[in-house]
Amino acid sequence: MRIETASTLKSGIPVAIPIYQGDHLVPATSIRLPGNLLEEAREDGFQGKPGETYLLRPAGRRPARQVILVGLGPRPQADAHSARLLGAASVGRLGEARWPSVQILLPAGPAAAQAAAEGAVLASYRFDRHKSQPAGERALQAVILVGARGPAVKSARRGALFAEAVNFARDLINQPPSLKAPESLGRAAQNLAGESVSVRVFDKAALAKMGANALLGVNRGSAHPPVLVHLHYKPARTARRRLALVGKGVTFDSGGLSLKPADGMMTMKYDMAGAASVLAVFSVLARLAPDAEVHGVAPITENMPGPDAYKPGDVVRAMNGKTIEVLNTDAEGRVILADALSFAAKLPVDSIVDIATLTGAATVALGRAYAALMTNNAALETRLRESARAAGEKVWPLPLEASYKDHIRSKVADLKNIGNPGEAGTIIGGLFLQEFVDNKPWAHIDMASVGWSNAAHPFGPAGSTGAMIRTLLEYVDG
Ligand code: BES
Ligand code: MN
Ligand code: ZN
Repeated sequence: MRIETASTLKSGIPVAIPIYQGDHLVPATSIRLPGNLLEEAREDGFQGKPGETYLLRPAGRRPARQVILVGLGPRPQADAHSARLLGAASVGRLGEARWPSVQILLPAGPAAAQAAAEGAVLASYRFDRHKSQPAGERALQAVILVGARGPAVKSARRGALFAEAVNFARDLINQPPSLKAPESLGRAAQNLAGESVSVRVFDKAALAKMGANALLGVNRGSAHPPVLVHLHYKPARTARRRLALVGKGVTFDSGGLSLKPADGMMTMKYDMAGAASVLAVFSVLARLAPDAEVHGVAPITENMPGPDAYKPGDVVRAMNGKTIEVLNTDAEGRVILADALSFAAKLPVDSIVDIATLTGAATVALGRAYAALMTNNAALETRLRESARAAGEKVWPLPLEASYKDHIRSKVADLKNIGNPGEAGTIIGGLFLQEFVDNKPWAHIDMASVGWSNAAHPFGPAGSTGAMIRTLLEYVDG
């Protein structure tokens, strides 16, 4: 689905009109609607709440084939989020009718243009490649944003690009686990190489040479070799910032010998969402062209209980020399990230941000609306919270409480990979990772709580949400 911009409405194409909520419904654009139309909609129960839709059936005097009203909420509160919902709800309501394209009248301002474009592209996402009858040509081909002028045209393009990155990740994350073994994700990364992006994929032999024994340890129970992907974007001009993004890439997390129960495994193809998020950022970096140099690092493996699987009690030595006693093979994300963060800490970067589906405890702590944010650097915290706000996504800080470091002290190695059962599981994950960043400015986003949805929502179907990718893009391009 592509986003187009236009200055005037075309006839014959359905149109969505944004409406402010209030005692009187007011169009959020300069379009003139017959006054009694809005009165009728109100009498019919349409209030103009954010994302609420209403199908107009104006006999004989319709301005287009099909017209819907979409609520923006009360005028003073209408913001980027309501514009994002405008884009999403318009596609949701008009998309059902199988029109090849639809028009959305934009409220004024570049923020609305970016958000509406984002919402539309996000909501148009489908994962139907494994259906015997994919939508194909029947799917919506284009959304025309009407009334985008000047900077709003560029913003609409930015919004479409951001959402395209999200949908790129969703495709990888929704893909069945047996069709995305580590080496095939390595190839997906390789495909992102271009003029400003270089990609290196370290295979099993290279990882052994590098001393990535933590990643190799987790991989031992799997029939498929691991990879570590290193992507590098260099802007044409001198970079103002140098960043590393590190993403957990467990293509399927069975728990290993500390096997998960069947219910806990059903969604574990999404345990590579961190890695997919990093790849998604790189999939649009050349077009976004931020003036930051960006490194992407993704350790990728399955976590399986095969005959040579690493065992509770095993000790592995990570790339930075620290030793880890593995007491629960299901706490594998932090183990592979130990190597990946050690690798990132040696890159010439000013800060490291990792993103991972690290702990079920993140959902216990924050529910499904918020990702957990942990960091050793106050400026980085401010920056990431600001990026999330700009993206319309939610992160909430958890403290890296130093006294809890005792919980991961091992009797036989430098660290153990679990803390006390039922105590601050998400923070423990963060404290463990902190041991591998060599005191560099670093932040950890535990996205386990927000990366997956069991139900459809205004911005897409059930499955991968693609959450936090737009936050990362705002961070990189902010
Ligand atoms: N991938 C899981 C975390 C997870 C759980 C993500 C549920 C999404 C939904 C991670 O590898 C894991 O298994 N973590 C354990 C840690 C525990 C053994 C300390 C967990 O959360 O139970
Ligand atoms: Mn696990
Ligand atoms: Zn995992």
